[in-house]
Amino acid sequence: MQKQLKFKDGIFKIMVLGDIHERLIIETKEDELKQKDAHKLFEMGVKAFQPDLIVLLGDTCSEYQECENYTLLHKEALERILKPILKTDIPMCYCLGNHEHDAGHEKEIVDAYSMIDNFIGINDETAPGDFNCNLLVKDSNGEEDILNLWFIDSNNLAEDQSISKYDWVHEDQIEWYEKKAQEIKDNHNGRTIPAILFQHMPVIQEYDLMREAKLHEYLWSVPGFIGPLEKKRFVKKDGVEGYLGEGPCSPAIDKGQFASWKKVGDIKAAFFGHDHLNDFTGVVDDIILGQNKTSGFHAYTDGCKATIRMVTINEEEPDKINTKIYHFKDLGLKSESLDFIQRNFSDRTLINTNKIIGATLAVGGIVGIGALIKHFMG
Ligand SMILES: [Fe+2]
Ligand SMILES: [Fe+2]
Repeated sequence: MQKQLKFKDGIFKIMVLGDIHERLIIETKEDELKQKDAHKLFEMGVKAFQPDLIVLLGDTCSEYQECENYTLLHKEALERILKPILKTDIPMCYCLGNHEHDAGHEKEIVDAYSMIDNFIGINDETAPGDFNCNLLVKDSNGEEDILNLWFIDSNNLAEDQSISKYDWVHEDQIEWYEKKAQEIKDNHNGRTIPAILFQHMPVIQEYDLMREAKLHEYLWSVPGFIGPLEKKRFVKKDGVEGYLGEGPCSPAIDKGQFASWKKVGDIKAAFFGHDHLNDFTGVVDDIILGQNKTSGFHAYTDGCKATIRMVTINEEEPDKINTKIYHFKDLGLKSESLDFIQRNFSDRTLINTNKIIGATLAVGGIVGIGALIKHFMG
């Protein structure tokens, strides 16, 4: 039986967690400390924001191990990873990340989630893919559906790596979304219910939130990730909030997912994970696009800027989505797993500063060697 979501006193609050990338099994002291840091973030989020729903954007626990019962092993790992949340009765839902597809055991992973009481989303068997679903949210009186939430499987790597590193949301998934959206509309007397979409990999339209960097902007600019954009460097356009730490790692192929949202007209905001260093938010064609940084301390990450995104919707205006990013450090939390540099600098600043130092040393070296040659030869 699926739990019914509803607004409370006119408000519905969603706490969104990006890639956690926790270990399937804790093996080292370092693993233990990283998980402890992540737990501090989850605990603080639950306490400070008291969300009505918690969403995991995928790449939560991406490891696979040969064993007798992987569903059970994955369930136990999720229970350990999400312990501070599972102590509460806050409902949760999730997206599958590309790394959850890696070992080809998606069914066992979906089964593991379904065994944990807090998780309420059920895979829609009519949808292509391993985990796609939608959840309707009722008003505070529990009478009317006033918000819809989509959870879309953005798949794994592309079969043909020469055209795109990552796979994309397939045409048959887009068809399913349109059909399902029409069904929801028909069931609500022709009313389009405002919706928020959650998905692991971002849409290519995030590049519309960026412009090419000028020379003096090098230090905070990032290279593009896809195709010809790899040769360019980008910064956020004016009005885009938050942090751009890497070129959005979307698929290079667009099968029309974003265009389909515009055609259907229900989606007001879409939130993504996958990019571990990005937490920007901007608007493209009246749809909010928002990134979550990692909410864990494994994988590549901005350390103490591990992120919680809060999404708040008011019952009076369910088509207006309010959202804000909170960092581990700014929530007053102290890391036990990060070193001094990780605690104080962002990954992007370090990458670019190292490049500048490297280039300066190289130029200095060449000039120095030239001077020595001139001295001894001349
Ligand atoms: Fe990831
Ligand atoms: Fe990912």
